[in-house]
Amino acid sequence: MAFWLIPPSNPPPLNPGNLPVGFARHSDNETGEHYLDISCAACHTGELRYNGQAVRIDGGAALHSLASTVPTIRGGSFGQALGMSMAFTYYNPVKFNRFAKQVLGETYDENKAQLRRDFKVVLDRLLGTAFNDMHRGLYPTQEGFGRTDAFGRIANTVFGDAIDPSNYRIANAPVSYPQVWDIWKFDWVQWNGSAMQPMARNVGEALGVGATLRLLSTDGHPVAEAERYASSVRLHDLHTLEETLKTLQPPTWPEAIFGKVDIALASRGQALFKENCAYCHAPDPKPIQDRFAPARDPEWRMRVVETSVIGTDPTTADNIADHRYDLTNLGWTKEELSKLDVRLFGTTLAELDLSNISSAKALAYITAYVENRAYQDAGISDSQRWEMDGFGLPIGVQEIRGYKARPLDGIWATPPFLHNGSVPTLFQLLSPVSERQSEFWVGNFEFNPKQIGYRSEKFKGGFLFDTRITGNSNRGHEFRAGCREDGVIGRALEPEERWALIEYLKVLGNPDLQAQLQPVQAKPWTPGPACQN
Ligand code: HEC
Ligand code: HEC
Repeated sequence: MAFWLIPPSNPPPLNPGNLPVGFARHSDNETGEHYLDISCAACHTGELRYNGQAVRIDGGAALHSLASTVPTIRGGSFGQALGMSMAFTYYNPVKFNRFAKQVLGETYDENKAQLRRDFKVVLDRLLGTAFNDMHRGLYPTQEGFGRTDAFGRIANTVFGDAIDPSNYRIANAPVSYPQVWDIWKFDWVQWNGSAMQPMARNVGEALGVGATLRLLSTDGHPVAEAERYASSVRLHDLHTLEETLKTLQPPTWPEAIFGKVDIALASRGQALFKENCAYCHAPDPKPIQDRFAPARDPEWRMRVVETSVIGTDPTTADNIADHRYDLTNLGWTKEELSKLDVRLFGTTLAELDLSNISSAKALAYITAYVENRAYQDAGISDSQRWEMDGFGLPIGVQEIRGYKARPLDGIWATPPFLHNGSVPTLFQLLSPVSERQSEFWVGNFEFNPKQIGYRSEKFKGGFLFDTRITGNSNRGHEFRAGCREDGVIGRALEPEERWALIEYLKVLGNPDLQAQLQPVQAKPWTPGPACQN
């Protein structure tokens, strides 16, 4: 389980580098240099193992620990191991020579010195980041497996590393890698529903995993307006990835491996779902006049539920809503910003203070520049651009302190649950908080098809997930008797009702099994008793 990446199922020659799922390579057309790429599938592919078999979940949630550069006692993170092994290679001549011979082959003598210089640049950057992260204590909540503080890390990289050290902010809210089937239909994406345009989201992602971008000139001055901002982002490839994303289907419960679905129980579950869940989780297709992109069909309205109601860990939503950054070094004017295809929800450009701007807005503007430049450099026409931006969507930004309630097709395949991965099984998510585990182990790919989750008992190399740590709370989204407050969103569910709901969730997204469900009378949804105070 090297680094908890998913081993390749295609042997060479189909996969010449024998790379794990989601890793790719390309060679630059101009320079001929080869690159190792981290692609969408690296973080958006899951695997469930059971009885010696493995079920690949395309578009599911990864379980690796990719991002962390900060040394931990436990190890196991890819970024950290890469830095360490590069350091050992650089400082041990035997290792370095062996490495250089492998890389350079016949040109070893000629190019070894240059390779050593190039290697040092990368090594220094990795170690510099690791030192900075650790020394500043930027990531106090360990991410463990299957999580990363995506917004926090991108903000520290873009506003801190690339603009000014005063912009570093503590990122203590790791989130799970989300599943991405059906996602192109959502009007708002990201756990907190803050982003809209697919191209901007993918450009942001590319910047997050290492695409090159220079925000300041080498002497620290703003880059002139006409020069903003050249990057190594590849729009055509991002568009191809996005088009591929649209073909993803939710996974279907493999009865041959995980056991037969009890259709009668699932039918009762469907009625319970209508009564207790559909209000937030049923797809809500918008009529054409309400769509952000009229040509997108369907476009689903995503309900973003405020943390004061849903009661789940508020840290990531709060960080995104509260953290502010100083971008004055970039030399932007509002006049220029008004020409970019950014649409702010809940505020106006006039109200923006560039010395005190939120990460979502700042990233939207940076991405807009990067995108404009990349479209221009690639000679892409306006009509093509319209399509590549997702039927002409602007770069929308919405900042709600909350999390979106997504349709639950294929949700059984995406443990652990909630945005921060704090609840190990579906059964526990439907149980009162007092019955959820406050500690459990993550990193085991073995699936538990009854409770629906990964096995979470202690194991060697596992990560202890402690729900008492900031960012890790397993509260909220609770079904409990009494009035509705403090994260209680529904009535208590009897254990038998929880099992019925789970049986239904196995069927959801599987047209064949859904067709077999029997009609069962459902009670109507009600908001439940309000609290007296
Ligand atoms: C390094 C890991 C990583 C890679 C690579 C990656 N993503 Fe993601 N992606 C994430 C994380 C983490 C989030 C959740 C961020 C958040 O909402 O806080 C996310 C969110 C998303 C979302 C929104 C999901 C939702 O629930 O609303 C979409 C869509 C998406 N990614 C698509 C892509 C595409 C397309 C690519 C390739 C171009 C890609 N991702 C590459 C980690 C990754
Ligand atoms: C008041 C709206 C609301 C109701 C009612 C509701 N949910 Fe949710 N649900 C949410 C929100 C919001 C989230 C995301 C919370 C988070 O990630 O912190 C969520 C998350 C989930 C998740 C985890 C998704 C993931 O990607 O990890 C599951 C599973 C789920 N809900 C199932 C249900 C079931 C089953 C019911 C009915 C018994 C239900 N929900 C009722 C709003 C609701």
